[in-house]
Amino acid sequence: MLRFFLVLLLVVAAVQADNDVSPLEDYWRSVLPNATMPRAIHDLIYPGHRNNRVTIQECVVFYYVSSNISSQHLTPGYLQSKIFFMKDLYPGAQLKGVHLINRTIIGNFFVPRTEADAITFTSKNLPKILEHFSMTSDSKAVKLMEDTLNSCEVPPLKGEKKFCSTSLESLIDGVSSLLGTRDIQAISTIINEPQDEKMVYNVVAPIKKVSEQEKLVLCHPQPSPQAMHYCHTSSLYKVYIVPLVGNNGSMVNAIAVCHHDIKNFKPFILEALNIKSYNEPICHFLSGDQLVWFLNQ
Ligand SMILES: *[C@@H]1O[C@H](CO)[C@@H](O)[C@H](O)[C@H]1NC(C)=O
Ligand SMILES: *[C@@H]1O[C@H](CO)[C@@H](O)[C@H](O)[C@H]1NC(C)=O
Ligand SMILES: *[C@@H]1O[C@H](CO)[C@@H](O)[C@H](O)[C@H]1NC(C)=O
Ligand SMILES: *[C@@H]1O[C@H](CO)[C@@H](O)[C@H](O)[C@H]1NC(C)=O
Repeated sequence: MLRFFLVLLLVVAAVQADNDVSPLEDYWRSVLPNATMPRAIHDLIYPGHRNNRVTIQECVVFYYVSSNISSQHLTPGYLQSKIFFMKDLYPGAQLKGVHLINRTIIGNFFVPRTEADAITFTSKNLPKILEHFSMTSDSKAVKLMEDTLNSCEVPPLKGEKKFCSTSLESLIDGVSSLLGTRDIQAISTIINEPQDEKMVYNVVAPIKKVSEQEKLVLCHPQPSPQAMHYCHTSSLYKVYIVPLVGNNGSMVNAIAVCHHDIKNFKPFILEALNIKSYNEPICHFLSGDQLVWFLNQ
């Protein structure tokens, strides 16, 4: 089981009572009046019980497949519990051994842009960042922060564009700039009950392809004391909304990302999955805290 833990000390931000509307929610409404706020954003504005720890539930790192970061965590068992074949994704199909999770990272939240922009999030500035968040003595946290910054600095894959955001404002700006408009929507996987690996899912109709234009931006939360996202365009993938019903009646509205071009994948990943052909598209579900952005239609 890949489940590791780290502690990052957080700057204590002013706590907003849950029944107050956060200025960040007002901001969302003012710049994206046509878009419903997805849970993955809402939870980073209203994180419920705040504490001073950030927990990494899982390093969901499929976009790392062509970088050289943290791949030691991608064990065969882990990969097998995440990946399925596209040919098994149709209404009426059964999916087994797929582990769906709500959050990859727990405990951090959006800070206002002015606060986020006061720190330069680059690997060059790592010592200052560590000092700012009082993280210097926690070697695991240091390593993860380093990985986050490095992955933000890796050049994009051929055909992709990417950026990292350190605030809600910079996230929306970055996505709007990649999609060329503010007339956008965002969605995330909806999981209401904890799911375990033993669940057998029935795929139910309709499976909906997200965005015919194939103009999409995927964003993955990153280990960091304040919410950071790694976002990239995705001409190489296709994204689907897949309703699932578990064998005990548990319902999940899952976002599936299918990779049609797996030539970029590291060989050990294909080996772990016993994949011998590059022609077999493979898919994985996004966790509840990852985001898919697309044009409003
Ligand atoms: C990967 O390896 C190269 C060469 O060793 C190194 O320069 C780079 O910092 C590493 N990390 C990333 C994310 O590319
Ligand atoms: C919201 O939708 C309306 C009607 O479709 C459109 O005219 C307007 O430009 C949209 N607003 C934004 C900010 O995209
Ligand atoms: C189904 O099983 C999961 C995992 O054990 C559990 O969390 C969930 O509450 C169950 N749902 C229903 C509807 O019984
Ligand atoms: C997932 O997160 C949402 C809030 O974003 C929460 O309502 C839901 O109960 C969570 N599901 C699980 C299984 O923890």
